[in-house]
Amino acid sequence: MTAHATIPNDYAPAPGLLEGRVILVTGAGQGLGRAVALACAAHGATVALLGRTPKKLEATADAIEAAGGAEPLLAPLDLAKANAGEFEQLAHLLRREAKRLDGIAHCASHFVPLTPLANQTPDQWLALLRVNLVAPHALTRACLPMLIAAPDASVVFVGETHGLNPAAFWGGFAVAKSALPALAAIWADELEGAGKPRMNVIVPGPIATPQRRMSHPGEDPAGLRRPESVATAFLYLLGPDGSAVSGRTCVL
Ligand SMILES: NC(=O)c1ccc[n+]([C@@H]2O[C@H](COP(=O)([O-])OP(=O)(O)OC[C@H]3O[C@@H](n4cnc5c(N)ncnc54)[C@H](OP(=O)(O)O)[C@@H]3O)[C@@H](O)[C@H]2O)c1
Repeated sequence: MTAHATIPNDYAPAPGLLEGRVILVTGAGQGLGRAVALACAAHGATVALLGRTPKKLEATADAIEAAGGAEPLLAPLDLAKANAGEFEQLAHLLRREAKRLDGIAHCASHFVPLTPLANQTPDQWLALLRVNLVAPHALTRACLPMLIAAPDASVVFVGETHGLNPAAFWGGFAVAKSALPALAAIWADELEGAGKPRMNVIVPGPIATPQRRMSHPGEDPAGLRRPESVATAFLYLLGPDGSAVSGRTCVL
């Protein structure tokens, strides 16, 4: 069974929490990924921004620099199409340009509108599995030597409620997300030991983002949590305050 952990609701990250660290954030062009990238940069990290749309990454980078953060590294990549060589190239770019890597927040996500399994095509499933499951593994795998070399590295996968409690119409999206707690637990078990990279999953619950508008059209976003408030939980796991937590699934 998946082991759970709790992130304190009132967690208040110290101002320079991630000073000197380099954090890769996927899906950094909008929604949760953008908020996590801004929060990491605001707490001293240099961030590498990965996403499909260069213009959105540039906008996130501009916002980070306007707020006084370090100049981010931009890494446009389509995770639905990336092959093993491209994941290695990305790790090579990070090694060359940033010299180190202390964490990854896997916020990129591919979603298709809710529909019965019988309506979902193999091509849709391949895209869902590639972006939501294969890419988090492949990217972490390519970056693992840098993560192991860092003194307190931390990887955060992003799960989804229906990955834990499957329900009708969530289809291949929920199936892909359901594997992330196992991925984190297996990797944490393999890497167990002081100073080894930590591997955890955050299940954020409903957040006011473009994906939520797609899964729940017509819902008033005013009652939902803002991505900025959810980003604080990522700081807990990415920084030293979460150093005792690995192999866990944290439901917010
Ligand atoms: N929003 C919620 O209520 C909610 C609830 C539970 C869990 N989550 C999880 O939280 C995470 C963030 O979700 P979100 O709501 O912020 O989603 P979102 O607004 O849809 O953003 C997803 C991001 O992923 C990127 N992306 C999608 N396909 C990609 C691809 N093929 N290659 C590279 N990047 C790609 C998008 O880039 P482009 O914009 O360039 O396409 C976008 O920046 C996801 O893992 C999601 O499942 C969200």
